[in-house]
This record gives sequence, structure tokens and C-alpha cells, in this order.
Amino acid sequence: MISSKPKQNRFRVVGSSPADADSAVNQDRDSAAGTDAENACPYCFGTGMEVVPGVGARRCRCQSPDYRERLFRAARIPPRYQHCTIQNYVTGDSEISKWVAKREADRIINDYVEINGQGLLFIGPVGVGKTHLAVALLSELIERYQVRGLFYQFGALLRQIQDSYNPVSQTSEMKVLEPVFNADVLVLDELGASKPTDWVGDTMMQIINTRYNDKRLTIFTTNYSDKRKNESDPTKLLEDRIGVALRSRLYEMCKTVEIEGEDYRKRTLAQTV
Ligand SMILES: Nc1ncnc2c1ncn2[C@@H]1O[C@H](COP(=O)(O)OP(=O)(O)O)[C@@H](O)[C@H]1O
Ligand SMILES: [Mg+2]
Ligand SMILES: [Zn+2]
Repeated sequence: MISSKPKQNRFRVVGSSPADADSAVNQDRDSAAGTDAENACPYCFGTGMEVVPGVGARRCRCQSPDYRERLFRAARIPPRYQHCTIQNYVTGDSEISKWVAKREADRIINDYVEINGQGLLFIGPVGVGKTHLAVALLSELIERYQVRGLFYQFGALLRQIQDSYNPVSQTSEMKVLEPVFNADVLVLDELGASKPTDWVGDTMMQIINTRYNDKRLTIFTTNYSDKRKNESDPTKLLEDRIGVALRSRLYEMCKTVEIEGEDYRKRTLAQTV
């Protein structure tokens, strides 16, 4: 039970992360910050061959399916989305916004090394495939670049931040939050689905800011729009849910991609009956 809020956001690293695929990988990568080497394998720097002292060169461990498998597991992609790929994201002939969204995901995959953490914000109604595309992007980046990826639902991360508060030290314990700060690629799903309280919201903002400053890629999805359909439309806007400050930060650090269309699940169900 949290009885008081931290006076300021302070963090303390208290242990290794549950999302670590390989702690050596993390240590080596963190020390190589700020260069393209950050995105390459720390053992072979992207060459595919690593040098083993006294033995010679051999095929790098990152080339093994086991290594990728561990990265996939560490990314915590929910089972119901593990089938999602860019290739199996369907775009109908008249679905221009889906086609654009898929192209944007493709662009990030191809240009990952050069985009300097400039992310995407998928906005759209339920069932248009926002989470599908975000997960597909994450999986493909793990597959292709062996990045440390992480999937989080916004509400779950807020709870995690809330739970990380230690009333004795009056700090947020970094044990659980460290992988959220340090993942090369973070998917933050369903932005605005829960509303943060003051210090939790500040901590979330700090995480997002730090990631952006460190040029780490974050992909967001949300069901909340930036504009109402008309003046009597009662739906909440994204900025009402996450605050004006965070919304404007997202403008800077992400390209907003609106996806329109009907719920894909309804459509596929209709086709099967
Ligand atoms: N264009 C699409 N092509 C293939 N599958 C889709 C597409 N859109 C949605 N889906 C599938 O429908 C389900 C719901 O999509 P989801 O990504 O959860 O939608 P959203 O996040 O926009 O609410 C998922 O199983 C997803 O794989
Ligand atoms: Mg979703
Ligand atoms: Zn390697």
C-alpha cells in the first residue's frame, strides 16, 4: 500500500532485470552507448564472427537460433500476438491508412540503425491491428538486429511503477523499471487505457524522456484520438487521458500514424459464417 508519494522521482538500480536475455549482453551494450555499435551485437559488432581468446574466430553466438529465442522470450510478447508479422498484416485495396501504417513499420525495420529513436504512434479504433503491427515491428527488429525488445501494456507499466515505489527509501526501485529504460525497442500498448496519478505519471514521462534522449526506439499504440468527430462527440481525447505534456512530447519523438477501418476480428468472423 502506498501511503505517500515520492517528493521527486529518484531511481536506484537494485538488481538485474527480469527481461535480461543475457546480462553480459546488457552490460556490454550499455557501455557502447551513443554509436551504431549500440545496435550491433556486442560480441561480433555485426560481423557474425566472434573472437575467442586463445582459440580463434568462430561463428558468433548471436547467429544461433537459441540466442534469438531468448531475446523473443525476454520481450514478453503476449501469446495471442506472437503470430503477428508484417507479412500477415492484411491491407485491402481501399484501406489506404492500413497500407500507410504497414509502410511506416517497414521503414522503421529497414532504417532502424539511422532513425535515432524516432518512433511511431499508432492511433485508431479497436481491432484495426495497431497492436499487431507494433508487435510485428518488435519481432522483426529482434530477428534482424538482435535488439533487446520489450512489450508492455500502458496500464501494466503504470502499475509496475506504482509497485516500484519503496516508502523506506522514498525512491522508485529500478529493479523492475531498468529494462523499460534500457530496452533497445519498447512497445507501449494502449496508451491512455489507464490514467496515471501524479507521481506515477511523472515517472512515466521520465521513462519516455530518458528513452528518447538515449535514442532508444519506442512504439506506442492508442485507441484515443487527437480530435473529436464533431463538437457533440463525448469521447475523450488522447491528451485528456495522458496529459498535454506527454502528448506534446510524443509529437516530437514519434510519427503519428492513424489507422482507420472496421474491427478485423468482426470481419474475419463474418467471413467464416
Ligand atoms: N490488417 C490485419 N491483418 C491481419 N490481422 C489483423 C489485422 N488487423 C487486425 N488483425 C488481427 O486482429 C486481432 C486484433 O488486432 P489488434 O492488433 O489487437 O487490434 P488493435 O490493437 O488495433 O485493437 C489480432 O489477432 C490481429 O492479429
Ligand atoms: Mg491493441
Ligand atoms: Zn554477434
